Amino acid sequence: MPWSRICNHCALNRPSDPPDNHLRSKVISYFQIEPTLACALACPGCSRSKQIRQRPGPHTLELNQLQNLLNGLLSEGYVVHNIEYCGQGEPLDHPNFKKIVEATRKAYPVGKQRLITNGNNDYRAKLDGTFIDEIMVSIDGATQQSYEKYRIGGALNTALNFTRNAKEANRKQFVVWKYILFTHNDTEDEIKLAEEIALGLGVDRLQFVRTHSEGKSVTWENKTLPLRWSNSVDTSTPLIERNSLP
Ligand SMILES: C[S@@+](CC[C@H](N)C(=O)[O-])C[C@H]1O[C@@H](n2cnc3c(N)ncnc32)[C@H](O)[C@@H]1O
Repeated sequence: MPWSRICNHCALNRPSDPPDNHLRSKVISYFQIEPTLACALACPGCSRSKQIRQRPGPHTLELNQLQNLLNGLLSEGYVVHNIEYCGQGEPLDHPNFKKIVEATRKAYPVGKQRLITNGNNDYRAKLDGTFIDEIMVSIDGATQQSYEKYRIGGALNTALNFTRNAKEANRKQFVVWKYILFTHNDTEDEIKLAEEIALGLGVDRLQFVRTHSEGKSVTWENKTLPLRWSNSVDTSTPLIERNSLP
């Protein structure tokens, strides 16, 4: 491993794949940015509070720090293909998220940008006028009652409105509803309801995800999901990430 202290603990590490050091060729496939560790929700499987306790330094990205990093990459001639905003906090809870997007877009105008969010914010207030190639909204449930079992403190309607507004703001933004399957949100009726709502919202993909964490859905473990809509997909969290989840 190039940086064993870090790589061996990384959720994206694939120990059985051959090493591939893109940095040497000055090409970064995925530049992942964690804008903040702040988040208004309290999802039981999230390591956010552990990270806040264990990681020294500020928990919100300073714009000048980001700009220094981008300047460094540009002056060294690095190419960046994809820029992804995620991490363990909620990217849109950064006080200046739009400015982060502007800075990275200016540095890498053709890099594809992707935001992973819980959608518990007002889309227009946070993002209107800012183009993001792909917006993935984490909504694990199709009723408030089941949604809030994992997304503690979250409001389903706010997340659905966010999703609708993201698609309406610019049809070229690829909008994904990501739905993690747990025992509390995996009935056939609820899956069907999610598909109906997703169709109404106009999302480009409704992505069901089989997780390995506590409370995971067992009903469909060895069965095909009863999907009816052409934009629905059935996916799994890679097994390799099983141990990185609490
Ligand atoms: C920790 S969240 C933080 C980003 C953002 N606040 C959100 O909720 O999407 C990052 C990613 O982890 C995923 N995630 C959260 N809990 C999970 C679980 N138990 N199993 C698999 N993925 C999970 C979310 O769906 C999201 O794509």
